Amino acid sequence: MSTLPTLTTASGIPVPDNQNSISAGARGPLLLADFALIEKLQHFNRERIPERVVHAKGSGAYGTFTVTHDISTFTKAKLLGAIGKKTETFVRFSTVGGERGSADTERDPRGFAIRFYTEEGNWDLVGNNTPMFFIKDPVKFPDFVHTQKRDPQTNLKSPTMMFDFWSKAPESLHQVTMLFSDRGTPDGYRHMDGFGSHTFSLINTNGERHWVKWHLRTQQGIKNLSAADAVRLAGEDPDYAQRDLFSSIAKGDFPKWEVRIQIATDAELAAWEARTGWNPFDLTKVWPHTDFPRIPVGVLELNRNPENYHAEVEQVAFSPANVVPGMGYSPDKMLQGRLFGYHDAQLYRVGTNHQHLPVNAPRCPFHNQQRDGMMAIANGGAAQNYATVEAAGTKSVGLGFGDPGWALSGNTGRYDGRGVEDDFTQAGNLFRILPPAERQNLFNNLAGPLSHVSDEIRERQLGHFDKADPAYGSGVRAALRAHGAGNSKAA
Ligand code: HEM
Repeated sequence: MSTLPTLTTASGIPVPDNQNSISAGARGPLLLADFALIEKLQHFNRERIPERVVHAKGSGAYGTFTVTHDISTFTKAKLLGAIGKKTETFVRFSTVGGERGSADTERDPRGFAIRFYTEEGNWDLVGNNTPMFFIKDPVKFPDFVHTQKRDPQTNLKSPTMMFDFWSKAPESLHQVTMLFSDRGTPDGYRHMDGFGSHTFSLINTNGERHWVKWHLRTQQGIKNLSAADAVRLAGEDPDYAQRDLFSSIAKGDFPKWEVRIQIATDAELAAWEARTGWNPFDLTKVWPHTDFPRIPVGVLELNRNPENYHAEVEQVAFSPANVVPGMGYSPDKMLQGRLFGYHDAQLYRVGTNHQHLPVNAPRCPFHNQQRDGMMAIANGGAAQNYATVEAAGTKSVGLGFGDPGWALSGNTGRYDGRGVEDDFTQAGNLFRILPPAERQNLFNNLAGPLSHVSDEIRERQLGHFDKADPAYGSGVRAALRAHGAGNSKAA
C-alpha cells in the first residue's frame, strides 16, 4: 500500500486519478472539465523563472558565521559585536557567463555571494573569487557582459567579441590575467578564496569611518583544475562543482573560510594614493597585503544543504545594497551601479515581493509600509499602511545610523581614465608573482582564444601585455606561434 499522502490539486481537493485523464469515450477527445489535468499542465508550463542575467549557474548552502576576533573598534554592527557570536548565513556560488545548464568548470570568474541573516536585517556580501574586476564604470557592464555571452547571429561564444572589448579597455588587464591563470578554473567551489572586492565602510559607535575590503580564505587549500581537466570535466560531469559541494556537506565534511578584512582610514588611503597613484576606490585595483595587512574577523562554515533548489538557490536574491547599521558603501562607481542593479533585476526575475520568500526574508522583525503587489505573503496585516510625517524632520548631514557620509570634491562630469590612470602595474605585479609553470599556463590559455581573433585585436591586446611586463608579451607571442597564430581568422 502506498505511504504517500493523498494527491490533491493545489487547492487541496483530492485528485481521483492521476494516470488517466477524463475522455469522451475510451479514445478521446478530452474534457475541459478535467480540472486536475488542466491545472497540472498549466503549472508545468509556468515552472521556469528567468535565469539570472549573469551568474545563472550556481550552487547554494546554508552555514554559520562565527566571530573569532573583536573588531568593534571599527564597527558597531551587532553581528560583529562579540567573539563567539554566531549568525546564520546562506551562500551561493556561481559561474558568470554561462546559462543555467552550462558547465561548472568553464574558465570564468566564480561568484561568491553570502547572506548574513543578522538581528539588524540581511547583510549581503556579493563577491567573487577575484579581488578585482574587468571594468571600473557600470555604464560598460551590459556591453562587457554581452561580449561574454553569445554572438547575436551565430549564437556562439566569440573570442573576437571578448578581446575586442578587453583590448580597448586596458583596465581589464588585471582581471584578464587572473582569469587566464590557473585561478580561472578552480577545482569546485570549496577550494577557492572569496573577496567582497569593492571598498566598503565600517562605522563605529563614535561615528568614525574606516574603509574596508573583505576577504575569505579557503581552509580547504587553493586547488585549481588544469585547463585540460576543466575541458574534460565540462563534458564528463558538467555539474562537477554542484556535486562536490552538495556531497561534501551531505557527508559532514563542512567547508570553511577564514574571514578577514583590510582596514584603512581616509588619511592612510590618501597617503597610499599619493605614493602609488592608484585610486583606492577603483575596482580594477587591489590593496596590496603588504600595504594593508589582513586582520582576522571570523570563520564561515557551510553545514546544511538546501531542501529545495528552486525555492532556495534559484530564488535567493542578493544585493550589495543590503548593508546593516555599522556598515556603509564607498564612492566606487561600480559599487554605486550595483546598488541599483540587483534589486531591480530581482523585481523582474523573481517578482515584486521577492523579499517575502523564506530564503530572502529577514530573520529579525521587519516593518514598513510596502503593501500589496503580486504574491504579497507578508502584507503587514492590519498595521497602518502609511508613515506618519515627523514634525521635527531629519538631520541634513550624514546617511543615518551614525554614518557621517563623506566629503565630495571635483566637478560633475564624465571622466575617462584610459591613458590617464595606471592600468598596467598591478597586472604586471600579478604576472610577476606567478611561478614559471603557471606563467606558461597563462601564455597557453591566452594563446588559444587569441589565435582566433583578427591581427588588429591581437596586436592591441599584446601591447597591453608588453606594458604590464615585457616577459608577459613575449611569452604570449611564443605561445601564439606554437598555436600557429598569424593565420588569423575572425571568430
Ligand atoms: C556594475 C557592475 C555590475 C552589475 C550592474 C551587476 C549586475 C548583476 C545582476 C543584475 C545580477 C543578477 C542578480 C539576480 O538576478 O539576482 C548579478 C549577479 C551577481 N553578481 Fe553582479 N554586477 C556587477 C558587478 C559585479 C561584481 C564586481 C561582482 C563581484 C565583486 C559581482 C558579483 C555577482 C554575483 C556573485 C552574482 C550572483 C549572485 C547570486 O548568486 O545570486 N557582480 N550581477
